[in-house]
Amino acid sequence: MPFTQHEQQQSNSAQNITPKTRFGGEAMKEPRILAIANQKGGVGKTTTAVNLSTALAAVGKKVLLIDLDPQGNATTGFGIRRSSLRVSTYDVLFGEADILDVAQETNIPRLSVAPSSVHLSGAEIELVTEERREFRLKEALDRPLPYDYIIFDCPPSLNLLTLNALVCTHSVVVPLQCEFFALEGLSHLTKTIERVRKAYNPELNIHGVLLTMFDKRNNLSGMVANDVREYFGDTVYKTVIPRNVRVSEAPSHGLPAIVYDMNCPGAKAYIHLAREILKREKTMMGGSETIGAAA
Ligand SMILES: Nc1ncnc2c1ncn2[C@@H]1O[C@H](COP(=O)(O)OP(=O)(O)O)[C@@H](O)[C@H]1O
Ligand SMILES: [Mg+2]
Repeated sequence: MPFTQHEQQQSNSAQNITPKTRFGGEAMKEPRILAIANQKGGVGKTTTAVNLSTALAAVGKKVLLIDLDPQGNATTGFGIRRSSLRVSTYDVLFGEADILDVAQETNIPRLSVAPSSVHLSGAEIELVTEERREFRLKEALDRPLPYDYIIFDCPPSLNLLTLNALVCTHSVVVPLQCEFFALEGLSHLTKTIERVRKAYNPELNIHGVLLTMFDKRNNLSGMVANDVREYFGDTVYKTVIPRNVRVSEAPSHGLPAIVYDMNCPGAKAYIHLAREILKREKTMMGGSETIGAAA
């Protein structure tokens, strides 16, 4: 069972393997950093972070998914038991552990996860009194690392955790649920991104807006999708993630939907999204990105 295997792997990595041997011989690079952000809860951030990371790894990229949500759904979505964590993203934020010590390899080749622990729920308040509190993640990640992509799963809030992610992110992926009020609160997010760009991170931009949980039997989904496309134009990805029960079942098996049922419509859509994102990357970065190139 993958669950048990993973737990075995976890205890191995905790006890026997140091970051040096784990990444021995691996080329260090400047990873591209994408944040999956929207302060609304339940819009598909975690599902997108988990499945996009898996799909990017599947097409040959070395990927680190960093779980920044105290709820830890991206962590448990990979079958990682939070109660047994020695170190987590909390320790990275407070300079108490190196990101390579926190990153755990998953059963998926090329994909590692930096898990979140329950301690993260206190981090926001604890950070307030810290010096350079917006730069904690930037300081932890601003160096060559053995990944092509780092993906942040952000909490459902524009708090200091999300701010830390935005300060070191290149580009933001914004999932929008195809429901009434999809656009509500979005100007708050775009203004925050603008503010972070001006104050801390001139590179920051919106990579794209992703329509999630699209239900083709529901007229409202189509109307919302049209509204969003009218408002955001080409920023909206062509790929739309359908509402699909297999996608919602997968986390309870500790697996990304793409591994749980690679032929379900949701999994196929996320693989499609990864390709679209890599294509957009090529345009954004002036042609230096390649689709499916092994790292
Ligand atoms: N495409 C989808 N089809 C069906 N259920 C989905 C889909 N995407 C997300 N869900 C479910 O919706 C809920 C919220 O998704 P989640 O990714 O956790 O959102 P967020 O991280 O923004 O809070 C979860 O129960 C998840 O399994
Ligand atoms: Mg989430």
